[in-house]
Order: sequence, then C-alpha cells, then structure tokens
Amino acid sequence: MSLGNRYAFFKGEIVPIEEAKVSIMTSAFNYGTGVFEGIRAFWNPDEEELYVFRLQEHFERLVRNSRILLLDLPYTVDQLCQVTLELLRREGFRTDVYIRPIAYKSSEVLGVRLHKLQSDCAIFAVPFGKYIERPDGARVMVSSWRRLEDNAIPPRGKIIGAYVNSALAKTEAALHGFDEAIVLRQDGHVAEASTENLFLVRGGELITPR
Ligand SMILES: Cc1ncc(COP(=O)(O)O)c(C=O)c1O
Repeated sequence: MSLGNRYAFFKGEIVPIEEAKVSIMTSAFNYGTGVFEGIRAFWNPDEEELYVFRLQEHFERLVRNSRILLLDLPYTVDQLCQVTLELLRREGFRTDVYIRPIAYKSSEVLGVRLHKLQSDCAIFAVPFGKYIERPDGARVMVSSWRRLEDNAIPPRGKIIGAYVNSALAKTEAALHGFDEAIVLRQDGHVAEASTENLFLVRGGELITPR
C-alpha cells in the first residue's frame, strides 16, 4: 500500500518525485522535442496484483518513435521495462494506474534543432480510472481543428509538441459543453479523438480509420 511517497525515474535513477525537475532551459521544455507513451496498468483486487498492459510493446514504440527526433536513449527496452516495474513496486499502487514515460532532449541550451543534443528518458505513474466517466456514452463534437499531417509532425510519433493540436481540440469541445472531440484529417476523414483511438462497430465487425 502506498504510504503517500511518490517516485519518478529521472536522470538514470528512481528519486522522490519532488527531485524530478527539468530546467526552464531544457530543450524539450522550450520546443516540445520529446516523445511519450501512455501505458495502463490494471489493479486486480481478487489477486491483489497490478497488471501492466503490453509494457514491452509500449517501450518498443517509444524507442521507435524516439528515432524520429534523433533521440539517442541511454537505456534499452528491457532496462526501461525493469525500471518501470521497480517504480510501480515502490509506489505500491492498489488501483488502476497510468504510466507516463517521456523520452526528451535534455540539454539545457537554446537552439531549435534535433542534432547535437543530449537525450534522456523520465518515467512517472499516476492513479487513473476511466478516460471519460459517463456510463451513458460520451458527448462528442467534430472539432474545427484538423489533425496534423504525417509530413508536418507525424501524429504516430507521439511527439510532445504535437499535443498542442490535441489540447486545442479537447478544450474547444469542453468549452462547448462536450466530453470529447472527434478530429478529422485534412481531407475530412475521421482520424481519431483528441487523445484516443476511435473504432466503429458495424455488423459485429470492428472498423478503424484508415
Ligand atoms: C492522439 C492519440 N491517439 C491515440 C492514442 C491511443 O494510443 P494507443 O496506441 O496507446 O492506444 C493516444 C494515447 O496517448 C493519443 O494521444
């Protein structure tokens, strides 16, 4: 059981979360030059066990996406998996959890670029329940903001800076009284929601956007 102490993996070690701070000069803070993952872990009260959903696959995607930004991570996928499990053990969560790894340009230097900068990866976790708490179904609007194109900032990269696009869509929906936004691509086809995938069920078949 958590005693209220919170931890993060930061600069190569697990530290109290208060110590996991970046400088205002950090490259990623200035330019959004990082990639992240969102990993769920589900608490099973009968087994008293926390089950992480596809830990390795998420870190494989993080490392793959890191290459888009020339992030040279000083950890292997296996090391990132192990340290995440250690972090969860230290936290002692007994509830559903969201794990947030961030690979980012950690140099404290100005200059809009991706090359000649150091990289690091930080991880923290927070208790997290349902994404939208509405058993009768989410109220959604079609956003007036369009999804970024793959040749501008690739959405598949989960690039920090690109999430301004998601924030614009989400807040527009919230300010209009909706729970969520459906975001279209430039060509008008459905892309996804602000920060989640969309599926359509037709005739018992799952259909995903192209
Ligand atoms: C824009 C966006 N789409 C979809 C997802 C769902 O991601 P996953 O591929 O992990 O299900 C996320 C999660 O962070 C997201 O931010």
